[in-house]
Amino acid sequence: MLMMNSARKAGITELGYLKWLLRKNPFSSISSEALSKVLPLHVDTEADKNLAGIVRSTVERGAKGMLFIVGEFGSGKTHRLKLISELAEKTPCYYIKVDVESLGGLVRRIYERIEEEGLLSKIGTALKLREERIIHDNYEDLAEDIASLLSQKEYFILMLDEIENLVQRSSRRELERLSLFLHRLYSRMEKGMIIMACVPRAFNILNSYIRDIPYSKVVVKRISNEEAELILSRRLQLCREGMTRRISLDSLYPFKRETVHKMNEIAEGNPRKLLRYARMLLASSVASVLEGNAIGPEFLLKEFPPTKGSDHIKSDYDGVFKTIKNKFGERSFSIIEASKIFNLPITETKELLERLVEENKLVRDGLKYKVVAYSHNL
Ligand SMILES: Nc1ncnc2c1ncn2[C@@H]1O[C@H](COP(=O)(O)OP(=O)(O)OP(=O)(O)O)[C@@H](O)[C@H]1O
Ligand SMILES: [Mg+2]
Repeated sequence: MLMMNSARKAGITELGYLKWLLRKNPFSSISSEALSKVLPLHVDTEADKNLAGIVRSTVERGAKGMLFIVGEFGSGKTHRLKLISELAEKTPCYYIKVDVESLGGLVRRIYERIEEEGLLSKIGTALKLREERIIHDNYEDLAEDIASLLSQKEYFILMLDEIENLVQRSSRRELERLSLFLHRLYSRMEKGMIIMACVPRAFNILNSYIRDIPYSKVVVKRISNEEAELILSRRLQLCREGMTRRISLDSLYPFKRETVHKMNEIAEGNPRKLLRYARMLLASSVASVLEGNAIGPEFLLKEFPPTKGSDHIKSDYDGVFKTIKNKFGERSFSIIEASKIFNLPITETKELLERLVEENKLVRDGLKYKVVAYSHNL
């Protein structure tokens, strides 16, 4: 019964978007991990020209290379890794989300990924030897093993996304070990690319440890107003395909151009924030803006007054907190546990949890989090 009610409710909400000639809210999936393909949504920016040049020339020469994609949270790093996998169809791309906080954890993730590709021999003694090397922190030997496993393919791209999860929590000693691991892996590779994505702070830390490896770097910058228009219109078009054959409609409808520019301004040129504003603005306009009227900047400013800061997203946080309370009750939980519940990247989960700490709803418990004064919050 409960399920039927919520399904009915979801249907009704989605029907509301028909007045904008949209099948549903086009901005409901914001995390690029949640998108099945990014190519149809992609808008080329300056970073993409550099990225395409570096990747294409390295792959075409059959050479080896290391590349960093650096950008703030939500700037489009995972989006770029997915795009490369979609464009480099014939090249095996091994994507690894670094949702671990130790080098041992990263090495395990790489082996898991290699195993999925059927590159790993399952002979018991070899597995035992690897496990012993992990236990004894013998990472340089493991790097050689990984390089030779990956070299079984003609060419490969190893993608390490959100490497900041490892870098920002590591001690000097651990960073030195990570650097030795990367040096050995790179030196033993004959061909292939290692692409790492991270936030600028993590890159600055890592940079001082990997000086001897020649690498390239592409910075994903803020988006311009024109790019913001294209990002929104691509998603809007995909939700109205086939519905507007006989009508000529502005590609940004129901947003006015100035509304998009204003949204991009308050989002500070960050694509994830822009998409969040677009999602919320469209959701709130379903009930309050009259059919046929475009959504102007005045509606945006009424919904999200500048004085309220980022309070707009409050309702999202309330739901998150309720889920955390139901799931973990009184016990402490890690960012990784929470990220699995919300199916969000670690960085985005951390942002949510830190926000709840600021609101005094959660407290930090070492590296973990816990609901504040649990009994009072029920
Ligand atoms: N050039 C672009 N064209 C179309 N969509 C984009 C572009 N850049 C970013 N996006 C969209 O912005 C959103 C955020 O991007 P993404 O998740 O890749 O950011 P991120 O840098 O990996 O964030 P985090 O640091 O939190 O991992 C995604 O929905 C992505 O598809
Ligand atoms: Mg990401």
